[in-house]
Amino acid sequence: METLKSVLSSFCTGVAVITARERDGRPVGMAVQSFSSVSLDPPLVCFCPARTSTTWPKIRAAGAFAVNILAADQRELCRTFAVTGGDKFAGVPWRAGGNGAPLLDGVLASVECDLEDVLDGGDHAIALGRVTALTAHRAGEPPLLYFRRAYGRLPRSARPAASASMSSSMAAARSRSEA
Ligand SMILES: Cc1cc2nc3c(=O)[nH]c(=O)nc-3n(C[C@H](O)[C@H](O)[C@H](O)COP(=O)(O)O)c2cc1C
Repeated sequence: METLKSVLSSFCTGVAVITARERDGRPVGMAVQSFSSVSLDPPLVCFCPARTSTTWPKIRAAGAFAVNILAADQRELCRTFAVTGGDKFAGVPWRAGGNGAPLLDGVLASVECDLEDVLDGGDHAIALGRVTALTAHRAGEPPLLYFRRAYGRLPRSARPAASASMSSSMAAARSRSEA
């Protein structure tokens, strides 16, 4: 188990906060690194909540959620949403998206989804979301990274230009690091 966790921590990811609203309007959320795009047509994304998560059943019951993609300057926000219990939204500015799920201020991008399906993923579930709305808020700003169980950020030299398309800028960053 430790070897599995240690080796898989070599895969660097971004971090997102998945949010939803309970029936009484109360906001809920949890930090995940397991967010991924799945399909373009139809537009599907996924994340993997642990079966022990107390927030996941609330997101599942809501049937709709938002993916808040964190910026490099949002470590503290990530820590806030990586704990169980308490009022995670105390002092956190947000507004309701079109599907009612909280869109957190200051994130790089938000992706609103309907919960499309829930698949078995061992001690996690695989939650499949169908994208219903999405917005990039801070084009060109660096993302929060998670690598070997620590937070990080892209070095300035590896950051894509705000105006460049994502695919061409990723290729440029790769060739710089290989040079
Ligand atoms: C960087 C980071 C990534 C995380 N990724 C996941 C994840 O993909 N799935 C998950 O279930 N928990 C993940 N967690 C842990 C959850 O955020 C945490 O267990 C959860 O918020 C606990 O609260 P809950 O009981 O309200 O669900 C992650 C935590 C951190 C700090």
